[in-house]
Formats: sequence, C-alpha cells, structure tokens
Amino acid sequence: MDNIRIVGGARLAGSIPISGAKNAALPILCASLLADGDHVFRNVPDLRDIGTMTKLLSHLGLETSFEDGVVRVRGCTVGDADAPYELVKQMRASVLVLGPLVARYGKARVSLPGGCAIGARPIDQHLRGLEAMGAKIELAHGYVNVVVPKGQLRGAEVVFDIPTVGGTENLMSAAVLARGRTTLVNAAREPEVEELARVLNKMGASVEGAGTDVIVIEGVDQLEPVDHAIIADRIEAGTYMVAAAATAGDVFLDHVTFDHLEALAAKLREAGVEVEREGSGVRVARRGELRATSATTAPHPGFPTDMQAQFMMLMCLARGRSVITETIFENRFMHVPELNRMGARIEARGRVATVEGVDSLSGAEVMATDLRASASLVVAGLVAKGVTEVLRVYHIDRGYEHIEDKLRALGATIERVPGRI
Ligand code: EPU
Repeated sequence: MDNIRIVGGARLAGSIPISGAKNAALPILCASLLADGDHVFRNVPDLRDIGTMTKLLSHLGLETSFEDGVVRVRGCTVGDADAPYELVKQMRASVLVLGPLVARYGKARVSLPGGCAIGARPIDQHLRGLEAMGAKIELAHGYVNVVVPKGQLRGAEVVFDIPTVGGTENLMSAAVLARGRTTLVNAAREPEVEELARVLNKMGASVEGAGTDVIVIEGVDQLEPVDHAIIADRIEAGTYMVAAAATAGDVFLDHVTFDHLEALAAKLREAGVEVEREGSGVRVARRGELRATSATTAPHPGFPTDMQAQFMMLMCLARGRSVITETIFENRFMHVPELNRMGARIEARGRVATVEGVDSLSGAEVMATDLRASASLVVAGLVAKGVTEVLRVYHIDRGYEHIEDKLRALGATIERVPGRI
C-alpha cells in the first residue's frame, strides 16, 4: 500500500478547485436504482468509495461508466436485489441501496455493515422506518432481509431517535415510490440530504422540507432518469481551509458553497484565521498566532464531526488550551495518539479531548484507520519539522481527490511513495 511523504514547513499559497462531494454523490448514485433509463451524474469525485458504489450498482445489474468526473448509469430492472458483504464491508454507505431497492422491488437483501473504526454505527433507525412503512425485516446470517408483503411501501410518520444522515437518505429514497405521504421528523439537515432531495425532485418525486428537520414526501408511481451536477465537497474544502490556517498560508478555494461551511468558518475566525467568502469560493489566510478555541461536534448546521480531527490538529498549534468534544461517534479520536507521537499534547478521555498548544510538531511515521483522522495527519505533516510519512493512504483515497496534486499546487512538498509493508 502506498504512503504519503511530506516535508513540512511550506506556507500554502495559491488557488485550487474543490471537487464534488463524496457524501452527496453516494446516495445520489443509489437513486439511479429508482428509475430506468440513462442517468448522468456530473462533478463526481474520482475516489475509491465512488468506485465501490459503481461496482455495487454493476453487481445489481446496472451499466455504469466513469470518465472525467461524469458517471453514467443505465438504470434497469435488477435481478436479485442484493448487496453482498464483499462490497458492504469495503464501504458502509453501500447500505444506501436499501431504500431504493425496497421502494422499487418490494424486497432487498443487504449485508449488515457491522461496526467500523469510528464506532458501532448501527442501522436500527433505517430499519425501524422501513418497518413503519410496512416492510418486514429479518436479520439472518449477517444480512438484513427486507420484504414488503403487499409489494409496495406505504407512507408513514417516522420520528428518528437521533438525526441520522444515512437513515434520512434511505427513508427519503424509499418514500418517493411509496403509497401516500411519509413524514420524517427529526430528520438530518445536512446539505447532502438537501442535495439528494433536489435530485429526487428532478426525477419527478415530491419531497419538501429537506434541509429542515421535518421532511414530507408524497409518493409517486414512477420516476424519470436524471442529469445532475453534484455540489462541492464541504469537508474537502474544510480540510484545505484548516491546512491553509495551520501553515499560516493564504489560499483561495474555488467552487465551494460558503453557506455549507459557516460553522467551521466561525470557529476558524474565533481562532484568529481570516476567512472570506469571495465570489464562488473562499479565501483563508492567517497572519497572527492561533488562539485556542474549543469545539463540540453536532449535526448540521453545527460543527461537523468530519472536521473534528483536522480542527483538533490545528488547535495543537494554538496558544493555550482547547477542549474538543465529539458527540456524534463514540470512537473518533484515532488521530490523538498519532498526533502525540508528533509532539502534540492531547489528552483524550471518552469523547472529550483536551489540547495544550505546543510550539511545533515533529515529522514522524504515522497511520490512522479512518479517513478524516488520516487527513488530519497529512495536515500535521505540512507543518511538522522534517519528514512525515502517512502510511496506508488507502483511507485518504476514499475521500480526497488528487490530494498530493492539490497540495503540491499550493506549494507543499508532498509525494506518494510505495509502502515498505
Ligand atoms: N446511528 C444510529 N442508528 C442508525 C443510524 C445512525 O445509532 O440507524 C448513529 C451512528 O452510530 C452515529 C450517529 O447516529 O453515532 C450519526 O450517524 P449517521 O447515520 O448520521 O452517519 P452516516 O450516515 O453513517 C454520514 C457520513 C459520515 C459522517 C456522518 C455524520 C456518508 C456516506 N457518511 O454517515 O461521513 O461522519 O454522516 O455527519 O454520508 C466521512 O465522510 O468521513 C464520514 C464518516
């Protein structure tokens, strides 16, 4: 497996474009199961997770192709509505085929994703919602088997115990072809949920309220194929914003939706970083010292859990003590021991990490088993003294398109090297 090798010390400067959003593209690709015909999805990032999703769609019998950021899917009637463990274990988001399959075919067999590095991540909320819509659920041999006795789901009121992004997306995609009205209460308000609703509506669905915590869906009989360009990746943008701040750089990130970045922008400004919306992008610069700033993750529009590791890394360089609290996932501090190996002073207890700022970090060989933790280590490598080697870039490749090229364009000394183990 490849590693990423960084020589720290460069101040990032210049301009780069932000790619399409992985977490928006994944449920949208699944929506192609809802309608026959030729779908075109533009601005799709070239990432490992996207490859896994197109593989899963092909496994289900759909024709897919990916070229220059454009995924074409020829929707058709699938044979067996099943998502095997082989693919689901590579990417949890594979469970997002569940809603569309059950809606269209009245049945699905999908491997249970199991836990992952950042937490247990059950799908009970997805399943409870489908049950409320008339589906019968059976868990056996590591799979969830869903059958709708009458063939078609019926609308229902579903109150989520917690706002779940994937749960909201799965049930929204199921409800569009159900009979009658579905109301999702305490729904996730993430921009990716809103984007999926936009696509479903383009396909002829009737979804209202996405982006708020109550979403109302009126089922329709049939949907049409769609041509859609995916929104910008707010987490990729956020990661480069933190990288600019960490290196005391001055960077312009183009093609972003600033409104999706408000919570992060507020925290960066509190920490002494300049963040300005400029046309279709955002400019991030730092001239003075970083101020210690505490942050607590929360569902959107709160501070995103997917930016927690990167922001914590930034706080390692701030003057004073900051407290970072993770409320979404129970095990999302894998970067802590690695950052400490680089000279950071972080103490993590349960879901709370206390960070004492240090003057500098030192390069080291580091590794993390989750995407955003790995990203925080790359940013740490940019500021650390000497050479940092981030092992197993597999994780980075799941979520950051051409990361070395983009950082190199901003002046970083970074390359991909073959791993020794
Ligand atoms: N949860 C349950 N039951 C459920 C569903 C979720 O208890 O049925 C819990 C989870 O265990 C977690 C919390 O609810 O503690 C939130 O989970 P959610 O369902 O919102 O997350 P997800 O849909 O599995 C998506 C993103 C994640 C991102 C989270 C939170 C995709 C493909 N993934 O996951 O992205 O962290 O929302 O915003 O959209 C990443 O990109 O690095 C990543 C992990």
